Amino acid sequence: MNALIVLAHPEVKSYNAALARATQDGLQRQGHEVHLSDLYAQAFAPDEHGRHFPRRANPLRFDAQSEQRFSAGRNALPHEVRKELDALLWADLLVLQFPLWWFGMPAILKGWMDRVFVYGKLYSSRRRFHSGVCAGKRAMLSVTAGSSSDACAPDGKEGDTRLILWPIHYALHYVGFTVLEPLIVTDVRGGRSGSDAERQKLLLELRLREQGTIFESIDGRPAIAFNDPDDWDELGKLKPDAPVHSPFIGHERWSRTGA
Ligand SMILES: Cc1cc2nc3c(=O)[nH]c(=O)nc-3n(C[C@H](O)[C@H](O)[C@H](O)COP(=O)(O)O)c2cc1C
Repeated sequence: MNALIVLAHPEVKSYNAALARATQDGLQRQGHEVHLSDLYAQAFAPDEHGRHFPRRANPLRFDAQSEQRFSAGRNALPHEVRKELDALLWADLLVLQFPLWWFGMPAILKGWMDRVFVYGKLYSSRRRFHSGVCAGKRAMLSVTAGSSSDACAPDGKEGDTRLILWPIHYALHYVGFTVLEPLIVTDVRGGRSGSDAERQKLLLELRLREQGTIFESIDGRPAIAFNDPDDWDELGKLKPDAPVHSPFIGHERWSRTGA
């Protein structure tokens, strides 16, 4: 299998960079082909903007999706986007490695999605979800959080980290990926001292060693459930008897009282 790891971290000596390398090693040990795309190392510009498109469908008013489709159809996508898109289309497995920054992904990775998930190439109104271009491929998030495992739990004060990742998972599902359960490493932060710091260091080292092993047996990892095409009515609303897989799409409107 071919695997693409996209790393979004500014520091090569970071825990995130070490996790990305451990993922690469684990996959390579199984004989897989791996490409690591380090977004900061290549100074990937995260802002989708008209200046990236020398040939424009409409030079007077920039519309991102129209220009993406126009350039894709003329083999004129920006070089750095073409390179990432080719790697994405080559890969059977996509791993996004990033630290949780403000309850989401770092801007450079969000920008990678904005620019590389090219309209007309990776998705269109007819090619999305189960009939998406990436159908048959798998994707997975590998995330670190500074907060504790208690604070990141469903009843924790940082909010349920797995739930916080839902919009990213849904974007991957939108372009057709089968999305595997994420890896979330909590307590990745400095500022501790004494035996507390020593214990945390050992735990993170242990977790780092596990990363490669996890990817050696990636085939057994469960996928996240999303609704099937038959679960929607003609308005795109969930049918009354359709199953609910997340609090983001359900049968009842969320209310302040929770009633
Ligand atoms: C801009 C910024 C925002 C952050 N936001 C969060 C957050 O929302 N939740 C959290 O648990 N940690 C947050 N952190 C802590 C990072 O997640 C933590 O430093 C990182 O996971 C550690 O990995 P690293 O050593 O590879 O950088 C934030 C850190 C930065 C720099």
